[in-house]
Amino acid sequence: MKEKSKKLSTESYKGVRDFYPEDMFVENYIFNIMQDTAESFGYNEYTASLLEPTALYEAKTGDEIVNEQTYTFTDRGGRSVTLRPEMTPTIARMVAARKHNLSFPLRWYSIPNVFRYERPQRGRLREHWQLNADIFGVNGIDAEVEIVSLAYHIMKNFGAKGENFEIRLSYAGMLQEFLIDEFGLNDTDVRALVRVIDKVGKITEADFTKEVSAILGDEGSAQLEILTSNKDELKQKLQKHKGFAYCKDVAEQLTNMGITDTTVSLEPFLTRGFDYYTGLIFEVFDTSEENNRSLFGGGRYDNLLDIFEAEGVPAVGFGMGDVTMRDYLETHNLLPEYETPTDLYICTLAKDKIPFARTLAERLRREGLNVAINVTDKKVGTQIQYAVKQSIPFIICLGDDELKKKVFMLKKLSTGEEKEVAEDDLVSLIFNSVT
Ligand code: HAM
Repeated sequence: MKEKSKKLSTESYKGVRDFYPEDMFVENYIFNIMQDTAESFGYNEYTASLLEPTALYEAKTGDEIVNEQTYTFTDRGGRSVTLRPEMTPTIARMVAARKHNLSFPLRWYSIPNVFRYERPQRGRLREHWQLNADIFGVNGIDAEVEIVSLAYHIMKNFGAKGENFEIRLSYAGMLQEFLIDEFGLNDTDVRALVRVIDKVGKITEADFTKEVSAILGDEGSAQLEILTSNKDELKQKLQKHKGFAYCKDVAEQLTNMGITDTTVSLEPFLTRGFDYYTGLIFEVFDTSEENNRSLFGGGRYDNLLDIFEAEGVPAVGFGMGDVTMRDYLETHNLLPEYETPTDLYICTLAKDKIPFARTLAERLRREGLNVAINVTDKKVGTQIQYAVKQSIPFIICLGDDELKKKVFMLKKLSTGEEKEVAEDDLVSLIFNSVT
């Protein structure tokens, strides 16, 4: 006999989200601002499948992500497949494939979902969406200035105040070189130390000190602590690095173009978790105490296309996650209030009015209105309550009179205002609101 089946949990898979309409509303709001701002800078949209051959990430994505954070499986044909943990290798692959037919500079953006097997926590999930904006084919500083200013303008278009975020700049390899000079480390140790430094803010201070001591010894660890607390001395020591002047130039150009309401500063201990960055790197931080964390970041990666035998295509870009942005908007009270896309709900005083409601709705939809109609036996009061609960802004109720005269009492639910309207005027009145 078949065993009685166990009921399934309604919970979603760990670390991923369901988007109910209210969540989808916020998500679309975030995507629209990202998209509109990227397009205002001349960026064109692309996308790709979330499945990629695993080899794509093995070359340059970075050990932590490849070994510990990818969702990888073998398909039925024996191929190793990975759910993309980021979009950069995909865009590099796409650009490399058509390198000879594309016109550079190339400005592309996408808002893909990406998957990382991380411990779910505030700001970190196993699936998130990420705006990627990248410019290909520009060697000089103008590419960085454009990309960082695009990041800045997205923040502003979200309504962020300049004092509530800051832009931190650094340069790939600068920290590593400095650590080698200062502590005489070998390659393996310097990589390990940078990985520990990348964990600042994510692990306790005691664990941080322990991990640093394991690499530098107690004395070295104390020396590093002094340096981290004395940024001026540190900057003095970094001045000889080419990255120092580069960061300064980028900051200066941003100021010259009027980005003066937010701090743009050199952050020597800024690291990025990927091996492909070759020049300027940057991150945007929330400055509030409740959410003092990195929001998003990126940088220059001039050699990533080399893995496809398509050398010589410099690139700069960034990835901006929806989870960190949502937290930011929430922290700073910048989330929009939910609005349903439905403009009008047609209530019916009796079931025999439904065919008319349907015909009227069809006509109004053709004229651009979003219309839902009652299809239940419920009393008209209950139908109105339903419309209120759905935050539908307008209702009309159909009875014998309305059907005969083709004149309706249009009600605005938020204010209770009512106005008699002929069928032909419904659309324009709703569009212009009832006043
Ligand atoms: P990333 O810093 O790894 O860079 O990710 C970019 C952003 O995606 C993060 O700053 C954060 O907003 C968000 N993010 C990353 N991981 C998670 C997670 N587990 N949960 C929620 N949000 C997350 C990159 O991915 C680079 N490929 C960006 C890039 C584009 N560089 C050049 N072009």
